Amino acid sequence: MPNILIATGNAHKFQEIEAIIGKFTDLSLNLVYLDKSYRVEIIEDRKSYEENAKTKVEGYLEFLEKNPDLRAELNLDFIASEDSGLEVECLGGEPGLFTARYAGENASDIANIEKLLNGMRLKKECAENRLAKFVCHACLYDIKKNSFEYFYGELKGLISEEISGTKGFGYDPVFIVPEFNKTAAQIAPEEKNAISHRAVAFGKAADAIKSKGRLI
Ligand code: IMP
Repeated sequence: MPNILIATGNAHKFQEIEAIIGKFTDLSLNLVYLDKSYRVEIIEDRKSYEENAKTKVEGYLEFLEKNPDLRAELNLDFIASEDSGLEVECLGGEPGLFTARYAGENASDIANIEKLLNGMRLKKECAENRLAKFVCHACLYDIKKNSFEYFYGELKGLISEEISGTKGFGYDPVFIVPEFNKTAAQIAPEEKNAISHRAVAFGKAADAIKSKGRLI
């Protein structure tokens, strides 16, 4: 069974990716997660989501080079990563690349949400236009071929005026999913994982792995 390392220290992202890939029942992959205790250092300072996603793969490759025993034990076929963000129309696409650190380096989800809602309260255009989208750029690194591929997904929605819901992570409590007329933090994880930006991007990545025909 091919081994694929999901290059993230974000447990929420990993759980979502695991559930999304798990739906491809004909694709038996062993997903590997190295949690924050491994202290893999990634500096996300690139000018595009794709470059940031590639940086994450490279950060994990470097970490594994320094830990050859772990690398041998994991016996990886692929490394996958993603860089995602929230783009709000009335803010000209902000927070965009700065989504994770909108309220500053290591800002909490709630601090980021408050900065977003306060910024939108101050901007006239935002009273009428609360359109937004989550975007996800997944990167798939094929170790044997030394090749990188990229897959895009988005989820369109609206930013609410108040926080609602306790599920999910990040900006989910203020992101209204039109299909449900609820925030992404109010719907079930299975509902989010059927339509999310991450589901679309990793669905495409799973198809690409399948088409490589290396699953036996
Ligand atoms: P990064 O990909 O590590 O730069 O982080 C992207 C940031 O976007 C996360 O820290 C979240 O704040 C936000 N984000 C990405 N995807 C989602 C999602 O599915 N729900 C809520 N927030 C998200």
